[in-house]
Amino acid sequence: MRILVLGSGAREHAIARALLAEDAGHDVVVAPGNAGIARTTRTEPVDAAAPGAATALAQRLGSDLVVVGPEAPLVAGVADAIREQGIPVFGPDRDAAALEGSKAFAKRIMAEAGVPTGRAVHVRTAADLDGALATTGSPYVVKADGLAAGKGVLVTEDVAAARAHALRWLETGPVLLEEFLAGREVSLFFVSDGTTVLPLSPAQDFKRLQDGDAGPNTGGMGAYSPLPWLADAFGGEDRFVEVVRQEVAEPVIARLAEEGTPFVGLLYCGLVVDGTAVRVIEFNARFGDPETQVVLPRLASPLSTLLHGAATGTLGSTDAPAFRADAAVGVVLASEGYPGEPVLGAPIDGLAEAEASGRVHVDHAATAAGADGLVAAGGRVLTVVGLGSGVAEARATAYAGVHAIRFPGSQHRTDIAEGIA
Ligand code: AMP
Ligand code: GLY
Repeated sequence: MRILVLGSGAREHAIARALLAEDAGHDVVVAPGNAGIARTTRTEPVDAAAPGAATALAQRLGSDLVVVGPEAPLVAGVADAIREQGIPVFGPDRDAAALEGSKAFAKRIMAEAGVPTGRAVHVRTAADLDGALATTGSPYVVKADGLAAGKGVLVTEDVAAARAHALRWLETGPVLLEEFLAGREVSLFFVSDGTTVLPLSPAQDFKRLQDGDAGPNTGGMGAYSPLPWLADAFGGEDRFVEVVRQEVAEPVIARLAEEGTPFVGLLYCGLVVDGTAVRVIEFNARFGDPETQVVLPRLASPLSTLLHGAATGTLGSTDAPAFRADAAVGVVLASEGYPGEPVLGAPIDGLAEAEASGRVHVDHAATAAGADGLVAAGGRVLTVVGLGSGVAEARATAYAGVHAIRFPGSQHRTDIAEGIA
């Protein structure tokens, strides 16, 4: 298959890697990609979020399938434009991507579909803010309504901080005040063709910058899969997955279809699990980053079959994906200053040593070609993925990889998947 992957992050690297690992002779192109991705895969310097340019590239390449990685192109209507040309595309139209692009839209769909989630109050003006803060109470969960690259959310017990965050984001649009949901966070992905959903294996993301879940929220500093504690609580991973399929994924997909905005692509369910109670924190309309980097290496079924089946409305006749029992742990290396203003240009060395064992690979999020090799070109720069027969072994492998990499000033968490047996 000729497959075009749109995006430039470690998630897109992981998608391209999984497609190539099928050994099916796929012709995979990533646009725009980055210098690290270009070491193994053809890249094209095209703006993934520009509908006209992305469509022209897919036509020029004769793509059999286009996979849209990030949310920005979805919200910009890139999938609509490519679909209009009759090219199978994995990624929802702009209207269905509002499930991620507008938290208020997601809350309405969940209410109508009877999906369990926290209560939320919609605040549109500063005048409504104090009343809303008093109603929801501490801990406060304040969210910007639109896309904010993981930075629009503040969870705090400090009412002054909650107020300040809300006032800052009210300058750009509405904010939501949400009920605080206690429990452990799980990310579970479903591939959807608009009607049928097929689940992938769950992962856990670490969203805070520093060890012990301290510091600001980020796009994600590490992840692991599978989640042995989840299997224990539910009597098996497949039982947990079944609960989420029936209570969350299927009702949401059915509701979107009824609205005339069928969801074709990846439904990312961000969940809080408390005992055996499951509630939704958020939806995303695309693969999670860094969760994808630990879920896809465990996929035993061909990824291309799933994505093409979704894009062509034929998932009903596609087998549910199978996963290897092996575990994967991913540790993100970020530039100094992230998630504020990252310092760019630091040289990166030691990648070959990190990957030498064959049980570690490095997905590149933001690397560029410098005079003497690769340099950092963004906030999150690398995801170092270790594989092992269990989470503890995969974790040790991943950190051995991290320690082999020389990247001055870089930040990473040292407690990803710690204590998970
Ligand atoms: P979001 O961008 O909605 O995924 O939120 C980012 C992070 O904030 C989540 O991964 C949680 O750690 C935290 N968070 C968001 N909403 C809630 C909530 N209602 N209760 C508790 N924590 C939350
Ligand atoms: N890892 C969180 C996200 O992809 O939104």
